[in-house]
Amino acid sequence: MSGSVGDITVIAQEVRGCTRCGLHTGRVRAVPGEGPADAKIMLIGEGPGYHEDRQGRPFVGPSGQFLDELLAIAGLRRSDVFIANVVKCRPPQNRDPQPDEISTCTELYLYRQIALIDPAVIVTLGRFSMNLFLPGARIMRDHGKPQWVNGRLIVPMIHPAAALHRPENRPLIEADFERLPAILAEAEAERSTPADPSNDEEPPLEQLSLF
Ligand code: URA
Repeated sequence: MSGSVGDITVIAQEVRGCTRCGLHTGRVRAVPGEGPADAKIMLIGEGPGYHEDRQGRPFVGPSGQFLDELLAIAGLRRSDVFIANVVKCRPPQNRDPQPDEISTCTELYLYRQIALIDPAVIVTLGRFSMNLFLPGARIMRDHGKPQWVNGRLIVPMIHPAAALHRPENRPLIEADFERLPAILAEAEAERSTPADPSNDEEPPLEQLSLF
């Protein structure tokens, strides 16, 4: 991968000083993401909310508490996974991130984080994150169904905040997290199997050439 990918802490420093889109004007702190640089699972949310903006850390508010419970269902602790967001600065009043904010932030930071960490599994939390990897997917139809994209299993999941707001979503997201260990085992087994040269069923190349 290119030398510009850099070190995970270097990327975090760049994020903290970033002024490349309008979101920086309203932030208290940017939220680069956190976790081990060799995490096998990466979780990608939408963007910082009120609490994350104040603390500079991802998922530390109510949806973060729920995320910790979901990780526990999967037998995981927060320190086992890398948690990041599509955009690293809080959109005003938690509005949706705009296309230019998403493209700037992902190209400058998120895709470099993914390339460096090289996780076997990416769990997308909510539709903005999901649509980066699976542009045609729909969250209520496709949540919990892993799909190969450029050598990783992408697992779309309902955003924890959506499960907090709509209690009927809670068993769905819990069931999806319960399957995470099996999904990781599948991804790791596939990645450790030497490529079969007679197998021409390469996953289609798409816009995420940085992966
Ligand atoms: N919601 C997100 O998508 N990301 C966070 O970091 C917190 C809440």
